[in-house]
Amino acid sequence: MPRLQRVYGHITRGCGVSTVHDARRVFQTVIRLCYHLDRNPIYPRTVVPPKKGCATPERGDQPWRTTATFGARGAAAGAFRASTLCVDATTKWPYPPTSLPRQDVMERAPERMITGSPNKPVIAVVGAGLMGHGIAQLFAVAGHRVAVYDPNGDVRASVPARVRSIFELLGQDQIALERISLHSDFGEAVSGADFVFEAAPEKLEIKQEIFERLAATTKPVAVLASNTSVIPIGDLGARVNRQHAGRIVGTHFWNPPHLVPLVEVVQAERTDVAVVEKTVELLKSVGKVPVHVKRDIPGFIGNRLQHALKREAIALVADGVCDAETIDLVVKHGFGSRLAVLGPMEQSDLVGLDLTLDIHRVLLRHLDRRPGPHPFLEQKVAAGELGMSTGRGFREWTPQQCAEVRERLNRYLLALAHQRKDGA
Ligand SMILES: NC(=O)c1ccc[n+]([C@@H]2O[C@H](COP(=O)([O-])OP(=O)(O)OC[C@H]3O[C@@H](n4cnc5c(N)ncnc54)[C@H](O)[C@@H]3O)[C@@H](O)[C@H]2O)c1
Repeated sequence: MPRLQRVYGHITRGCGVSTVHDARRVFQTVIRLCYHLDRNPIYPRTVVPPKKGCATPERGDQPWRTTATFGARGAAAGAFRASTLCVDATTKWPYPPTSLPRQDVMERAPERMITGSPNKPVIAVVGAGLMGHGIAQLFAVAGHRVAVYDPNGDVRASVPARVRSIFELLGQDQIALERISLHSDFGEAVSGADFVFEAAPEKLEIKQEIFERLAATTKPVAVLASNTSVIPIGDLGARVNRQHAGRIVGTHFWNPPHLVPLVEVVQAERTDVAVVEKTVELLKSVGKVPVHVKRDIPGFIGNRLQHALKREAIALVADGVCDAETIDLVVKHGFGSRLAVLGPMEQSDLVGLDLTLDIHRVLLRHLDRRPGPHPFLEQKVAAGELGMSTGRGFREWTPQQCAEVRERLNRYLLALAHQRKDGA
């Protein structure tokens, strides 16, 4: 049976469409409905606004116009016959298109909702929690098809709303949501991927099992990346043979991944250098700042630095030198206020290494050097003082204060993200 390969669409005047954004959404909706989701719809890439003197063949009116090309999965391109369909969005289809059950459609026909640039690597995300949905969002908005797997149905169902809220926060076109498909079947999600990002719980056993399954179900050239915070990458691939271990790499995104640019790319002993390079390139292409961690050490770079600071901070409070509020004031209003623009190595060079050496000669032997967690921290956790979640940790928290901290952090990170976008 001959199948349509191209769609030509126009929206006539007087239907309430006044922006390219609206027009794209109408076209996309129309195309999707026209084909009853029976193949791989691709939303219109270029929407042409009405021009003076431009007439449509049908109505002699000035339209919004578009063409959308699409293909069908599993069939050779030659099996299709080029054809054309005219779409009139004014008469047959509901407006606004947002009234259509997007989320429902994604859930019911995930494999068919995949759209995106055919030249961009296909991404799979395993685990759609706090980190996974943000990682999916950042690749989708950059034009990649993203297949998301999570074993929890409630988590899967919440992905569209959580991703949509990121688009809203960043003022991005929500149409990229269409590039994300949701899967309850592991193999279905990962089998077509060029890169898999694992963002499952930080439990060695769970991650080892995932990498074992990934080795068996993905394309032999697919890169298998883990978002683990501290587990050595070599341990994750312990159950995987040498042939597959070469494609396992660490990609430690920072929370929230759509706002914090750094990704630590961790090379394990058996990781192929080419895999590291490919991963760095991919991350750069979506606007991240990847760094190459050349040895597979616990905590990589960022968390070692962060926790070296926390170890000393906890010891200072436990020793009664100051309270927790004072630690936060010292960091935020002291050296922390310049950290985002002046790293510690730059700062050492700025003040001079001779001064740094003099300071270390006096200071280092006084810093906390205990090999395990501080008893003060252990006591807090044993007493159920876990922080904001329980209202008390190192500091006391009301629900309102917790909300204010989160709001303040998001506002700050968002402002930085906008600055970067504007090239400031
Ligand atoms: N939260 C952070 O600030 C942060 C920052 C950087 C890195 N990480 C790392 O990212 C990873 C994910 O953390 P998170 O905070 O998103 O966790 P999360 O608990 O929010 O999400 C984990 C998701 O994995 C799913 N899951 C459970 N078992 C699974 C399995 N067998 N296969 C696939 N998915 C499964 C869960 O349903 C859940 O949705 C962890 O390794 C964590 O250490 C977290």
